[in-house]
Amino acid sequence: MVDDSPSGMPESLTRHTDYGHDGLLEDDVVGHPLAHFAQWIRDAEQADIFEPNAMVLGTIDPDGRPSSRTVLLKGLDVGENGGPGALEFVTNYRSHKGRALLANPLATALFPWYLLKRQVIFTGHVQPTEPTLSDDYFNRRPHGARLAAIASDQSEPVASRGILEARMAELEHEFPEGEPIPRPEKWGGFRFIPETVELWQGRSMRFHDRLLFTYHADGTWTRERLQP
Ligand SMILES: Cc1cc2nc3c(=O)[nH]c(=O)nc-3n(C[C@H](O)[C@H](O)[C@H](O)COP(=O)(O)O)c2cc1C
Repeated sequence: MVDDSPSGMPESLTRHTDYGHDGLLEDDVVGHPLAHFAQWIRDAEQADIFEPNAMVLGTIDPDGRPSSRTVLLKGLDVGENGGPGALEFVTNYRSHKGRALLANPLATALFPWYLLKRQVIFTGHVQPTEPTLSDDYFNRRPHGARLAAIASDQSEPVASRGILEARMAELEHEFPEGEPIPRPEKWGGFRFIPETVELWQGRSMRFHDRLLFTYHADGTWTRERLQP
C-alpha cells in the first residue's frame, strides 16, 4: 500500500534513494565468479560493514515450506582447483535449518551489502562437512561459544532464559577455560556448492546491473546479463 501522507509510518518507506553510478560490466569479472565474490567480501570489510560474511540462508522444510535466517560464512573455496567452488558455514544439525537441509539439500544464500549497493545470490545444494573439518571449526570457537553450542538445542522452545543460563553454568563448571571440549555431534559444518551466482550492483534510476553465472556439469561457467 502506498501512502503519500504517512502519519506514524517510518519515513524510509516512502523515501526514494538513488543507488549511484558504479556499474558492473562483463569485463569486470575475470576468472571464477567466486574469486570476484571474494573481492566483494574484502570490499565489504573495507567499508566496515558489520559482519561482512553474513548471509541469508534459504531452505525448504520437509513439508515444502520455505524458511530463511542469517548464518556466517566461515570457509570459502574460490574454485582454484576447478569446479564450482564452495561456501562453508556451521550450525546445529538438529535445528530447523539443519533438519530441513538434511531432508532437502537445495538451498539459497544471499549476501546483502546494502551500504555498497550490492547483493550476491547463490542457488545450490549443501552437504555436511567432514567430521574433522567440523572439529576444526568447533575448536577455533571461543570457549563460551563452544559451550553455547553444547547448551543450546537450537530452534527448540525453552520455558525461560534462566534454564539456558543454568545449563551454561553447569557446562562452565564441567569444562573450565583451557580444558578440551568435545564437539557435540549435533553441531557441525555444511558445505554449500553453488549452481548459480548472481552478482548485483545497484545503479542510478533503478537501472541496475545483474550478471548471472551458471555452473555446468562439464566444469564450465556461462554468464548472462539479466534485466534489472
Ligand atoms: C549476524 C548473525 C549471524 C548468525 N550466524 C549464525 C551461524 O553462523 N550459525 C547459526 O546456526 N546461526 C546463526 N545465526 C542465528 C540464525 O539466524 C538463526 O536464528 C538460528 O540459526 C536458528 O535458525 P533455524 O531455527 O532456522 O534453524 C546468526 C544470526 C545473525 C543475526
